[in-house]
Amino acid sequence: MLWQDNKGLHQLPLSFRFALTAFLCVCGMGYLLGVANVWFSYVPVDQKPGLSVDDIRLSFHGDPSGSKMEKALYGSMKQYMSSDADTEAIITWIKAGGKESAFDSIQPIISGSCDMCHSAEVATAGIITSTYKDIAPLLETDTGKSISRLVGLSHTHVNALLPLMFCLSIVFSFTRYSNRLKGVIMVFSFASFVLDVGSWWLAKVWGQAAILVIFGGASLGIAYVFLLLLPLYEIWFVKVPDAANPLRRVSDQTP
Ligand code: HEC
Repeated sequence: MLWQDNKGLHQLPLSFRFALTAFLCVCGMGYLLGVANVWFSYVPVDQKPGLSVDDIRLSFHGDPSGSKMEKALYGSMKQYMSSDADTEAIITWIKAGGKESAFDSIQPIISGSCDMCHSAEVATAGIITSTYKDIAPLLETDTGKSISRLVGLSHTHVNALLPLMFCLSIVFSFTRYSNRLKGVIMVFSFASFVLDVGSWWLAKVWGQAAILVIFGGASLGIAYVFLLLLPLYEIWFVKVPDAANPLRRVSDQTP
């Protein structure tokens, strides 16, 4: 059996070690892109520098004192506005009650900055900004991410990340680290994954749970560091597995 003859990743043919290294490096880059995506989407939300619990709470649970439109304009949609003056014009209009009679002065700004992604045909994230009727629901009090949006996010995360973590676990299970270490890291990885996605739903219903979102994301990061670096270390640096690997199997240590 493949796993019974397993002599560690360093014993694999060079070409296979390169392939595994490439796979692990691309997974690492994917994780960093995920972190960058979180950074750019959530940092601007509370208008203060850095990623905070407030950024997450406002995004998932919402803010009883502000509308979804305001949050988007200060947050992840800010980048699409051509000037701060335009943003201020829309915010002033919303603060004044977002009346249909005054919409004509706002409409050109929105069609210039938003319609390319939020037209009736494209409707990115289910949002349409073409007419006053489309925009009106966005002016209501912000209740955070919609259930359909959370379902969409969870669905892509579960379907993309879970097979990836399974592959990483398979690679990791072929290393010569002790079974106890493997077990701890794998349980930790999957628990982090459940916490990561589960915490979004908790934060949606209970604002205080926003801290768990940061906690879940961070523990997933720690899991990734182990799942990527430990196999890489064995592939390239463990010359003679039984003698040099400081974390070798307990059963291998007896002569
Ligand atoms: C280049 C494409 C693009 C442009 C331009 C764009 N958006 Fe978006 N918009 C998106 C994407 C993608 C999402 C979903 C990602 C997210 O929730 O951050 C989104 C989400 C939103 C949301 C929902 C946010 C939430 O928390 O559910 C609102 C409201 C919104 N956009 C308004 C706007 C407004 C107003 C403009 C014009 C200033 C604009 N968008 C311009 C792509 C765009």
